[in-house]
Amino acid sequence: MTLRGSHPLVSGTTANAPLIAAMTGRTPSRRPVWFMRQAGRSLPEYRELRAGTDMIASCLEPAMASEITLQPVRRHDVDAGIFFSDIVVPLQLAGLDVTIKPGVGPVFGEPINTPEQVAALPRLDDAALEPIREAVRLTVAELGSTPLIGFAGAPFTLAAYMVEGKPSRDHLGPRRLMHADPETWAGLAAWAADISGAFLKAQIEAGASAGQLFDSWGGSLSPADYRRYVLPSSTRALAPVKELGVPLVHFGVGTGELLADMNRAGNTVMGVDYRVPLDEAEARLGGGVPLQGNIDPALLGAGWDALREHTIDVLARGAAAPGHVVNLGHGVPPDADPEVLTRLVEFIHSVPVGADPRSFSALKEA
Ligand code: CP3
Repeated sequence: MTLRGSHPLVSGTTANAPLIAAMTGRTPSRRPVWFMRQAGRSLPEYRELRAGTDMIASCLEPAMASEITLQPVRRHDVDAGIFFSDIVVPLQLAGLDVTIKPGVGPVFGEPINTPEQVAALPRLDDAALEPIREAVRLTVAELGSTPLIGFAGAPFTLAAYMVEGKPSRDHLGPRRLMHADPETWAGLAAWAADISGAFLKAQIEAGASAGQLFDSWGGSLSPADYRRYVLPSSTRALAPVKELGVPLVHFGVGTGELLADMNRAGNTVMGVDYRVPLDEAEARLGGGVPLQGNIDPALLGAGWDALREHTIDVLARGAAAPGHVVNLGHGVPPDADPEVLTRLVEFIHSVPVGADPRSFSALKEA
C-alpha cells in the first residue's frame, strides 16, 4: 500500500513543515512544538463546543471533531494538529460497550478478560471508520501546510482498560492475565493491535502526515514482560502504517526503562516522558533517533520564570538527538492556563534553530 498522490505529505504540502523536518532528522525552519492533549478542557472554546455532547459522540461527528482539532492550532500557533478522538473510539466502532466517563476515563459495560470473551471479540468493519476519515479530510483541508498527527492506543494500554473494565492504577489485571493465561492475553493483544492499526491507518490514508502510538500505561511493565508480552503486539499495530512511510512516534509514560525495547516496534521517533532527560534518553537509545518531549506538565503552573528555565534545559538536552520535536512529557492538564501555552510556543519559536538555548537565554535576560 502507498499513499495517494494528493496526500499532503506526498504532494509536498507538509513535507517541509518544521515537524516533519525534525522527525526525519532534517533541519527545521523553526523549532517545532505541539502538545499532547492540546485540544480539550484547557480551552474555553472546547468546553463551549462540547457542552451537551457525549465525548465519543463528539469524536464521531466529523465537523465537531475537526473544529476541536483546529482550535489549539489557531490559538497557539503550534506546529501540528493532533486529531481529536480517543484511543477507545475504534473499540466502540467495533461494537464494544464502552463510554468515556467525565473525570474518570474509559468504562466498559463489563470487563473483557475470559478466554470466551476474547474469542468472541468482534471484527472492526472498515466502513465504520468513515466518520474518522471524513473528519481527517475536513481538518487537513483547513490545516494546509501544518501537518495533522493521527494516533492510536497501543495494545497494552487498550487491553489494560478492557481487562479491568475501567481505569486502574497498577494494571494488575492485564499483568496477571499475561502470566496466568498467555494464550488469552496474546489473543486480546493481537485483537487490540489490529483495531489500533486500522484506526491509525485510516487517519493517515485520509491525510494525516505523521502518527503516534500512545502506550500510556506501559510504564507498569517490567522490561522482560514488555519484550515478551507487549512488544510483539505494538509491532503488529504499527506494521500496516509503517509501509506508508510517514514518521511514527512511540510514546509511553514512566517508560524510561523500556525506551530501547519500545524503539524496536517500528516507530521512527521516540516520545519521552518528563522523567528522563532527553540527552539521557538519547544515550539509552544508542543515538540516531529523533526525540519528542519532554517539558514537565507541572511546570505549566509553576510561574513563567521556572517554566522558561526548564524549557531552556529541555531544548539544550534535546540538541543531543538528530531531531527534536518539542512537546510536554505527558498531556496538558485540564486546569492549564491556555495563555501560558501560547506564550510557551512563542518562546520556543523565538530560540533560533541551531543556537545554544542556554546562551540565548543569557542574552535575552541581559
Ligand atoms: O489533544 C489531543 O491530544 C487529542 C485528543 C486525545 C484525547 N484522548 C481526547 C480526550 C488523545 C490523543 C487521547 C488519547 C488517550 N485517551 C490516551 C493516551 C494519551 C494519554 O493521555 O496518556 C488515554 C490514556 C486515553 C483514555 C482517556 N480518555 C482518559 C484517561 C480520559 C480522561 C478522562 C477524564 O475526564 O479525566 C479520556 C477522555 C478524553 N480524551 C478527553 C479528551 C479531550 C476528556 C473528555 C472531556 O472533555 O470530558
